[in-house]
Amino acid sequence: MSSDVTPTAKPVKTTGLHVGDAGPGVRKVDPILIADGVKRTFGGLTAVDVAHVEVPRGAITALIGPNGAGKTTFFNLLTGFDKPDEGKWEFDGRSLAHVPAYRVARMGLIRTFQLTKALGLLTVMDNMKLGAKSQTGENLFRSVLPFLWRKQEDGIEEKAVELLTRFKLEPKKDDYAASLSGGQRKLLEMARALMSDPTLVMLDEPMAGVNPALTQSLLDHILDLKSQGMTVLFVEHDMHMVRHIADWVIVMAEGQIVAEGDPHTVMQDPAVIDAYLGAHHDADLGIDTEHVEVLKELIDDEQ
Ligand SMILES: Nc1ncnc2c1ncn2[C@@H]1O[C@H](COP(=O)(O)OP(=O)(O)O)[C@@H](O)[C@H]1O
Ligand SMILES: [Mg+2]
Repeated sequence: MSSDVTPTAKPVKTTGLHVGDAGPGVRKVDPILIADGVKRTFGGLTAVDVAHVEVPRGAITALIGPNGAGKTTFFNLLTGFDKPDEGKWEFDGRSLAHVPAYRVARMGLIRTFQLTKALGLLTVMDNMKLGAKSQTGENLFRSVLPFLWRKQEDGIEEKAVELLTRFKLEPKKDDYAASLSGGQRKLLEMARALMSDPTLVMLDEPMAGVNPALTQSLLDHILDLKSQGMTVLFVEHDMHMVRHIADWVIVMAEGQIVAEGDPHTVMQDPAVIDAYLGAHHDADLGIDTEHVEVLKELIDDEQ
């Protein structure tokens, strides 16, 4: 566990994000994403059943919850990689229901995957180019405006180099993505996500499998996104990370939002402790013991 890692940049916490008392589904002053009645079942299993949730703009929000809580499924639904049985949700005031994943991305909502999708048999640079929004217009540019296309491709490459340098991957730009370490692939995925100038970046377990040295820089990169005006929604298991960089925490358990609030308050919420410690559950339900340990540690810290 990389609990001894803290961000080098002092995070500037954003305050006053919500309207009224914090709690599941609380309204935000300036929501960038709003989901309403979003439900997804797999056979008899209800994986996601979110009554209402709003993600505050310009802040870092952590989505936490035990394994199997429905976090990844919820990410998939929000970004068009899966379809809900019912419900509606909007991004920046525009409905996203029935909008396919590539169009969601073009609208400025980019996500990364829990299991990294960097394409191993492409070079690092080609992975970056794939992240460029403009590639959707590739054919038109190539056939009709070859000059403009070349100019645009230069721009893309320049931007890719700039991002790779920022993520310390520039020396590896001609290597196959498959040759990168797990942590470097996470960095590549994040760098690639930034190729399209997103306004909302959703990261599914960005720190998982990343060694402590890289964890540090990933954390700083996430803080950077916020300082550049982006909104971040990330799933994370390490509660120390959550506490250090999140302005807001949303807790899911068994498909539902069970708590929301600022990190310090949420960690002391009985609903959260319940969700993690499984007070009403049987250990057979697959409560993630690592989670429980981390939370216990954190509660001790707070006292
Ligand atoms: N494609 C699928 N088919 C069947 N069950 C699924 C599928 N995807 C997820 N689930 C189930 O939905 C629940 C939520 O999973 P997931 O969203 O991956 O949780 P989390 O990311 O919070 O760990 C789990 O019980 C999981 O087994
Ligand atoms: Mg998951």
